[in-house]
Amino acid sequence: MERSGRSSKNQGATSSKSSSKSSKATSGKMDNQSLLRKFFVDELQDIYWAEKHLAKELPKLQKAATSEELADAFGDHQAETEEHVRRLEDVFKMMGETAKAKKCQAMEGLVKEATEIVEETEEQTATRDVALIMAAQKMEHYEIATYGSLVQLAKTIGLHDVAEVLAETLNEEKEADLLLTSIAEGSVNEQGATEEGHEGMDDEEDRD
Ligand SMILES: [Fe+2]
Ligand SMILES: [Fe+2]
Repeated sequence: MERSGRSSKNQGATSSKSSSKSSKATSGKMDNQSLLRKFFVDELQDIYWAEKHLAKELPKLQKAATSEELADAFGDHQAETEEHVRRLEDVFKMMGETAKAKKCQAMEGLVKEATEIVEETEEQTATRDVALIMAAQKMEHYEIATYGSLVQLAKTIGLHDVAEVLAETLNEEKEADLLLTSIAEGSVNEQGATEEGHEGMDDEEDRD
């Protein structure tokens, strides 16, 4: 029944109550989907910043490493990290988005921690390598957590091609983490355990 004399806003609308209800439900679903997509893009911007930052900082860790094996691992992962940056640019393009970096506080903090470790440990010691590996693994674990979630999220919002690209990076992060573990377990940790402190090293227990 029409109410006479009311606004002509809905004039000509033939939709019944039930169909207008269902169209509202559909648009609600669309909103959720686009909110999730927006969150996904935000997270891409975050990891994009993190990867770019790492690509710039990894050479410093490479230079600080004592063992050739660890220095090489940092060098190789630096090259991979540049590829991760390029892959993210592909993902932005695939989604029709501009590649934009948003400062990642977590990665900034992890890199700062690594820099401090270099300052606090002696050059040419296995102890420095032990510490560098630990700092680098914290970074890798952050990346693994991020890419793991992004791959799942991409699948959820139906971006299966994007999920595939991100999964490639995820696997390389896992490989990098495993390599660091094997370097630590191979020799670095043991060498560190038998290493004697030098003068000026901040180890109070070594003093009488
Ligand atoms: Fe990466
Ligand atoms: Fe990485």
